[in-house]
Amino acid sequence: MIVSLKTILDIAEARNIAIGAFNVTFLDGIYAVLQAAEELNQPVILQFANAAHGIYTPMDVIGPVMVSMAERAKVPVCVHLDHGDNFQDIQAALEMGFSGIMYDGSALPYEQNVANTRVAVELAKRYGVSVEAEIGSMGREEFASAGGSSQDAEIESCYTDPDQAARFVKDTQIDALACSFGTVHGIYLKAPKLDIERIRVIREKTGVPVVMHGGSGISDEVFRKCINQGVRKINFYTYASKYAGDLIRYYLGTEDGNVYFHDIAVRGRESFKQTYIKTIKVFSNLDRLAGGSRA
Ligand code: 13P
Repeated sequence: MIVSLKTILDIAEARNIAIGAFNVTFLDGIYAVLQAAEELNQPVILQFANAAHGIYTPMDVIGPVMVSMAERAKVPVCVHLDHGDNFQDIQAALEMGFSGIMYDGSALPYEQNVANTRVAVELAKRYGVSVEAEIGSMGREEFASAGGSSQDAEIESCYTDPDQAARFVKDTQIDALACSFGTVHGIYLKAPKLDIERIRVIREKTGVPVVMHGGSGISDEVFRKCINQGVRKINFYTYASKYAGDLIRYYLGTEDGNVYFHDIAVRGRESFKQTYIKTIKVFSNLDRLAGGSRA
């Protein structure tokens, strides 16, 4: 069943867990996310980042499929627009039946980010949809390869300022805040060092759930610490895709006979699903309850 972003984050808050927000780029990815969530009987966020992934499947094709499959799911699902940076995409997602949107104005000057986010909130309100927005910069790909201490200082200067975050939430009335505290999107080229205390302060000053972007490459232990400080939505994609790619490379290297694309797709789907099962267990504390650990 489809639920709003706010509803799913309220569930997370009540249980002191985070909801996995998994990007999808094609049909098998949608299957993998929903099957993993249903197998564990956990809520999940199915999200599409048109700006990054529209080249693989256009949003007007994949969006209605996401909505239709989420409607039929046996667990609560939020269908979310990730990194919406223009009102055309936001309007399109709302029309398609998405139940959450992110407006990403983090690259804009503060006042412009506030003004645009307010427009997004007004638009979304008409559809009963909740809004995530971002302040601070998540550290773009170029930061992932940063090496020296001067670069570290540059990265930290982009971290979310808790007082500015509090003002931003008050001025925009958003439902969730994407913050920068040391994660970056994509592959980490050196071990991430997160400012976990910053999450606690931001959560306290803003009063809204904190969203972690760039979940790939973060250890289970660090995930748990972040969740304990108020992270309620964790965006995760790159490693799920990388693990599936590694598996297919192995499969192609060991297969002597004919290789059919549908077999590759099914193997990839299963790999995505297993990664999401392990990840959801950590985010929902199920691995602790079962006494297990994530491989
Ligand atoms: P990763 O792909 O680094 O896991 O991050 C996903 C994300 O933050 C999407 O917004």
